[in-house]
Amino acid sequence: MADALKLGVAGLGTVGASLMRILTERRESLATTCGRPIEVVAVTARSRGKDRGIALDGITWYDDAATLAREAEIDVFVELMGGAEDPAYSAVKIALGRGLHVVTANKALLAAHGMELAALAEEQGALLNYEAAVAGGIPVIKAIRESMTGNTISRVYGIMNGTCNYILTRMEKEGLTFDACLKEAQRLGYAEADPTFDIEGNDTAHKLAILTSLAFGTAIAPDDIYLEGISNISIEDIQAAADLGYRIKLLGVAQRTESGIEQRVHPTMVPIASVIAQVDGVTNAVAIEADILGELLMVGPGAGGNATASAVLGDIADIAKSRPGAQRVPAFGRPTDALLPYRRAQIQNHEGGYFIRLKVQDRTGVFASIATAMAANGISLESIMQHSKKPVEEGAQTIILVTHATHEESVRKAVGVIRGEGYLMGEPQVIRIERPKDV
Ligand SMILES: NC(=O)c1ccc[n+]([C@@H]2O[C@H](COP(=O)([O-])OP(=O)(O)OC[C@H]3O[C@@H](n4cnc5c(N)ncnc54)[C@H](OP(=O)(O)O)[C@@H]3O)[C@@H](O)[C@H]2O)c1
Repeated sequence: MADALKLGVAGLGTVGASLMRILTERRESLATTCGRPIEVVAVTARSRGKDRGIALDGITWYDDAATLAREAEIDVFVELMGGAEDPAYSAVKIALGRGLHVVTANKALLAAHGMELAALAEEQGALLNYEAAVAGGIPVIKAIRESMTGNTISRVYGIMNGTCNYILTRMEKEGLTFDACLKEAQRLGYAEADPTFDIEGNDTAHKLAILTSLAFGTAIAPDDIYLEGISNISIEDIQAAADLGYRIKLLGVAQRTESGIEQRVHPTMVPIASVIAQVDGVTNAVAIEADILGELLMVGPGAGGNATASAVLGDIADIAKSRPGAQRVPAFGRPTDALLPYRRAQIQNHEGGYFIRLKVQDRTGVFASIATAMAANGISLESIMQHSKKPVEEGAQTIILVTHATHEESVRKAVGVIRGEGYLMGEPQVIRIERPKDV
């Protein structure tokens, strides 16, 4: 049997500790599958004394990740600390600079520095593998980067944050408020103590930035993503959506359009009959639409120690099986100098259906005025109705509109006109509608 593949693991938290356990428990079967043993020879984490429930005997402890990356006798640097900047950033650069392969689950790092790191890996003939960085255990990176080579992808979208999907699912199924569901998610460990990054869509945006680059062959553009979180989704929106045959999901969507590539993360209404609408709780899903393959939808665990470690392990096994000096798969599917510049399509040019919920004074003429504002901006309505299911406050009524495909700019203008009419009794709610191919 060939020499062992030697790993240095930086980060022994949820994912790192799971990985260590699996590597120990499956040592023999992995050695058989990969044709060589896989051995962890060096580790680091923040606090050395912490009980992690894993055996570290015989493994060299380093007090910091950069020193491990610089000095340890390893073949692969496995980065499972997280964070876009140091220590992860410097440590990965040091490792790649030495020609070591790198496996990471860190979407924040890749969104911020992926291009630089990919170029460095290429220069050194090293692999930069990151299957776990998008949608946890779902093997979406390899699917796009390798299995779908030759396809032209037109749209990639998905539910990529379990916290948001859990909250939206609970709101719909139990009729609970956003705040109540967030608290429940925190109690169950599905949401961080500070959940801002998840619920405001930043986490989904990092993953989307990576998928966009892979799907469209463009440089990563994390700052060119239109972002809206779920914190202002109310139970009224969820109920009105259900009455109209839709569910609300936080989607990350990247789409090729005539004016460039749209990258957007926002609450989205999807038809209840679509498969993605059925993806509940902390489960993730990624859909890819391509010209040769058609539509691919992958559903599975997007987080959790074992599911994420499964993806990390797959990346490590690929390295164990690869031959020294062999042609390397470029991190983002094509050599970095062949990646195209990202051309952003402005959200104002987005074309699609819209759900608009207006709380207005309950008086005559309002309905007609809203319909006029829509027509004046060229918006054709699929439906306009008074939503009476929920009792509204004295003197108020809720009007729900669903538009046919129209431009975002027209919707913004029409809502602006309605604002000026003086009968609004609350902030208008506007939610984009996305139509998956399966409905
Ligand atoms: N958890 C998931 O379900 C999941 C899913 C997909 C991707 N990921 C990604 O996987 C990575 C790890 O996530 P996780 O959930 O395992 O995080 P975690 O439980 O917070 O663990 C982080 C680990 O990194 C160590 N660490 C943090 N800062 C450090 C520093 N400055 N120097 C050295 N070590 C440091 C911590 O040390 P101590 O233990 O001593 O504090 C801990 O062992 C992140 O990039 C995350 O985005 C996680």
